[in-house]
Amino acid sequence: MIQMFNVFKNYDPVSPALIDISLHIRKGEFVFISGPSGAGKTTFLKLIYREELPTQGQILVNRRNIAKLPPSKIPYLRRSMGIVFQDFKLLNNKTIFDNVSFVLKILGVPVSVTKKKVFNMLRMVDIHHKMKSLPPQLSGGEQQRVVIARALINDPALLLADEPTGNLDPELSMEIMRLFEEANQKGTTVVVATHNPALIGCISNKRVIMLDKGRIVRYY
Ligand SMILES: Nc1ncnc2c1ncn2[C@@H]1O[C@H](COP(=O)(O)OP(=O)(O)O)[C@@H](O)[C@H]1O
Ligand SMILES: [Mg+2]
Repeated sequence: MIQMFNVFKNYDPVSPALIDISLHIRKGEFVFISGPSGAGKTTFLKLIYREELPTQGQILVNRRNIAKLPPSKIPYLRRSMGIVFQDFKLLNNKTIFDNVSFVLKILGVPVSVTKKKVFNMLRMVDIHHKMKSLPPQLSGGEQQRVVIARALINDPALLLADEPTGNLDPELSMEIMRLFEEANQKGTTVVVATHNPALIGCISNKRVIMLDKGRIVRYY
């Protein structure tokens, strides 16, 4: 599903963020990108959803070279992905329900089905009671749960999550990882970047790619 061939990313010439990354993430895998702060985890994910381009090397997502993707096609690429990311904020002038149902509306899912699906998903992240609220009325942790609901609502082929439980307490973090695991069992390929070993411990059937200073230092 994701292949990288000798990928380098330099934001500036002196301190490369990723150095000579080659790997293959197969459909259906649950993969953690781990390593300390500054290791290159966020950059790694940004390359996959075409937020950043590699300085060198090739990246294939579903066998397509995404560096060659015209900008007009980027929304299509992302529509097949669930993205849990700091930069992917909620729309502040839309309710929680509308934020999460947005993609289903685009896909033409009937209203009655959408209502049921969104309510169930919001209940799974324990935020259904705030369905009619606006994002600014929610705490950071609550907003994070909405972002997770939005990412999973569409049964995405690929879920990309960057420190998804950063704002959440340990119990809820475990709950979120269980949701990711469930999505994975239903066929979603999951890639989670985290510096938190406890999170990695939540998942039994997984692969871990450890980065340090832009290089893969461990792979198991
Ligand atoms: N937009 C950017 N411009 C310049 N340097 C960046 C940018 N984003 C990340 N970096 C640098 O790239 C390296 C890797 O960062 P990042 O991918 O955010 O690591 P991590 O997510 O593992 O903390 C760091 O040295 C960071 O300072
Ligand atoms: Mg990061």
